Parts: sequence; C-alpha cells; structure tokens
Amino acid sequence: MALRIEPFDGAIGAAVIDVDLAQPLEAEERERLIEAWNRYSVLVFRDQQIAPDEFLRYSRYFGDLEVHVLEQYLHPVHPEILVVSNILEYGRNIGIPDAGHYWHTDLSYLDVPSRGSILYAMEIPEADGETLGNTLWASTAAAYEALPEATRAWVDGLQAEYSLSKRFQKLADDGTKHIELSDEQREKTPSVTHPVVRTHPATGRRGILVNEGHTTHIVGMPEDESQALLQELWDHTTKPDFTYCHEWRVGDVVMWDNTLTQHLAICDYALPQRRLLHRTTITGERPY
Ligand code: SIN
Repeated sequence: MALRIEPFDGAIGAAVIDVDLAQPLEAEERERLIEAWNRYSVLVFRDQQIAPDEFLRYSRYFGDLEVHVLEQYLHPVHPEILVVSNILEYGRNIGIPDAGHYWHTDLSYLDVPSRGSILYAMEIPEADGETLGNTLWASTAAAYEALPEATRAWVDGLQAEYSLSKRFQKLADDGTKHIELSDEQREKTPSVTHPVVRTHPATGRRGILVNEGHTTHIVGMPEDESQALLQELWDHTTKPDFTYCHEWRVGDVVMWDNTLTQHLAICDYALPQRRLLHRTTITGERPY
C-alpha cells in the first residue's frame, strides 16, 4: 500500500500513514517524504516499532547524522542516537532529561546548525489517562509571513548572537536544574552569529531563527532594544496560530525540519513517571 501524507489543519505538520519505518523504503517513497518534510516541517508517524539500526537507516535517508556535543547522553552502542529521558540508572541519567523545556531550534548555537531531528517514543508518561510530556512545534515561516511588511523588511537585515553556554548559565542563574558543560564542550560551542531570519534551502521560504533558547542578543543593537525586539518576535512566533502540539504515544516517530521550526518540550511529569525517546540529528548548512 502506498504511503499517504495528510496535512494537519493548522500552519504546520502532516501525518504520514501506511508506512513501516522498520523496512527499507523505495526511492520514490523517500522522495515523497523529503518533499513533505520540506513543505510541512513536521511529519508524524504512529504505531512504529523500530530497532536502533533501523532508526539509523531511516534517519540517513535525510542526510548525514551528527553526534551530539553532549556525549554523556549518547546511546552506548550507536553514538548517532541521543537518548532523551528522565530515567535514572544507578543514580545516573541514562539520557538528557531536558532536551529543550524552552522554545529553541536544535543546535542553532553551532556555526552549522542541524537540518532536522527525528524522535522515536519508547516510554511516555501519563496520569489519569492523560498524556504528559507533550511537545509543541511552531512554524517560524507562518509567523514570519504574518508579520507586517515593514517589520519583515527591518528584521530581514539583522544578525543575532546564539550561544549554548550562555543558555546554560541563564538556567543556572535562574536556579533551574541545569547541565554542566565540560571545558571541551564549552570550547566546541563558542557563541556564533546568524541572521534573525533564515531561508529554507529547498523551498526558499523564510522564517524567524531567533529563539528563546539560544539567542542572546541582536548584533549592534542597544541591550534594551534588542531584548524588546527578541521578546516581541518570540511571543509572536509561538502564538497558537502557528503551533502544533503533539501528544505522544509509544511507537510515535516525529521528524521535523529545523530550518523553519522551533519547538518546546513540556515538562509536566517527574519520576516515577518515565519518559524515554531516541533522537537522531541530521546535519544542516549555515543559515542565510
Ligand atoms: C528535543 O528538543 O529534541 C526533545 C523534545 C522532547 O523531549 O520532546
């Protein structure tokens, strides 16, 4: 049976039906998925059962895979898989407990941020029949397109700084549980400069790259003006009109295109409610 792609009603996302990701895919199926990924930004597959090597084969259809800089959370056998989990074994986290409880675009703090990411859900917390630990995605393209023309023209020419270590420092200053970066990880992630608005390499669509998680300030702008503009863009981008909320089920695979999205993981659960997902990260290109 040929796979089907059913766009969601809102600004972002589509369901992909009648496909088994544990099996190799034909070239034509792969092309349809790449086209849908570029177009809808978030693709949702239900009821999958995939082993790590099958997950890696599927992920490689979309590009080379990255080994995440936080090596303490990598899968012990397959380093291209980042384990996202709150589970403790022998008092140690088996995965990254907080892969983004704030709006962010994956690896936008790197010179070359990732193109996309894929999550596979293996354990999902729930309480009283309600799913916990939902993830929200925002279409930064729909948000950009909804800005007044004069604002678009203004922000189009701006550059901003993006930083992982400053993000972690902010979490530490706020008293929020945070992850300690090693000296080597700090060296691998110096602050970088990217545009405020970026262009999709395949479709030419433009979207807002500045995100609460990794953007520190607009280059060359007084601090108070920069913060005010960033806050305005973040509030605008994450309005319900531009977002999709995914209620996870075990066996879900969700892949997204980082070029024109930001996402947020909701942390409304705690042990003994367990959450376990595997994530692969696809290499990208410098934003322009
Ligand atoms: C991520 O930001 O890659 C993880 C999102 C999630 O945990 O839902």
